[in-house]
Amino acid sequence: MAIERIAVLTSGGDSPGMNAAIRAVVRTGLARGLKVFGVRHGYQGLVNGEFIPMDSFMVSDMLQRGGTGLFTARSKEFMTEEGFRRALMMLESFKIDGLVVIGGDGSMRGALDLAKHGVAVAGLPGTIDNDLAYTDYTIGFDTAVNTAVNAIGNLRDTSSAHGMVTIVELMGRHCGDIALFAGIASGGDIIVMPETEYSLEDICREVVEGRNAGKLHCLILVAEGAPFSCQDIKEAVQERTGMESRITVLGHVQRGGSPTAFDRILASRLGAHGVDALIEGKKAVAVGIRNNEIFDMDMAKALEMKRPERTELIRLGEILK
Ligand code: F6P
Repeated sequence: MAIERIAVLTSGGDSPGMNAAIRAVVRTGLARGLKVFGVRHGYQGLVNGEFIPMDSFMVSDMLQRGGTGLFTARSKEFMTEEGFRRALMMLESFKIDGLVVIGGDGSMRGALDLAKHGVAVAGLPGTIDNDLAYTDYTIGFDTAVNTAVNAIGNLRDTSSAHGMVTIVELMGRHCGDIALFAGIASGGDIIVMPETEYSLEDICREVVEGRNAGKLHCLILVAEGAPFSCQDIKEAVQERTGMESRITVLGHVQRGGSPTAFDRILASRLGAHGVDALIEGKKAVAVGIRNNEIFDMDMAKALEMKRPERTELIRLGEILK
């Protein structure tokens, strides 16, 4: 049976480019003759029935904006039996034939649960963390890396001026990609992430080696999922080297801001593909990009995949520091 009505929502932590994805879903849906609804506040909005009929004008002037015009939430109610049942009832009463979910790992798992109850879903990877194994890139990652690179550039200046050790915490949950990519792009000296096996002793030795080699500063980039906190590192550096250090937590700065051209194009391609997958009658797909090709695959299989090891990039970071 041909689908007629689709809905789109953004869920979990926002990421720059989500608006571009919403725009692509709405405009592709309308171009294909569908009725398109936006659901406000992610899965919480599904539970509450916050369905807004969308026209082309409603997604004007949002391509370049960070955040999400549909708003987002980390809904606890949707995870309860009652909340989930209400979400299903809302989808049924608004006669939604297919749902596009833009979000990270947890949001995809929510979509998969809906699919198990007969809802056709297409998941688009929207998170700055780049932690979804099935896709090379997630929407927002490139922007977050660029934001971090700019901030680290500023820190490098002041760090050199004072001959200081600068410790920067980057987001990424359990994934070190933001720290690794930003570290390579900004010439970080030590990149500490869940995927590497640094000890505090190694870190301190490298700080001293850098100083002995005549480095004016030391930039230590720490992914939030790393085995040590920035504070652990600061204390170890102070105790073992006597060198002064400062901690900067970039935090939510990395989640906001205008998306890069890469993220806008990625989000637009993924959004259009998601709608087409639903039109083709696909029931539970994750849409991604691999080797610059947009593709979809079974969502359950996508979520089981293991992330690629970053061996080459980790080595590169160590050689180029
Ligand atoms: O998933 C995106 C992300 O920004 C992670 O990098 C971070 O661990 C988490 O969300 C922070 O979540 P919150 O904004 O809810 O504290």
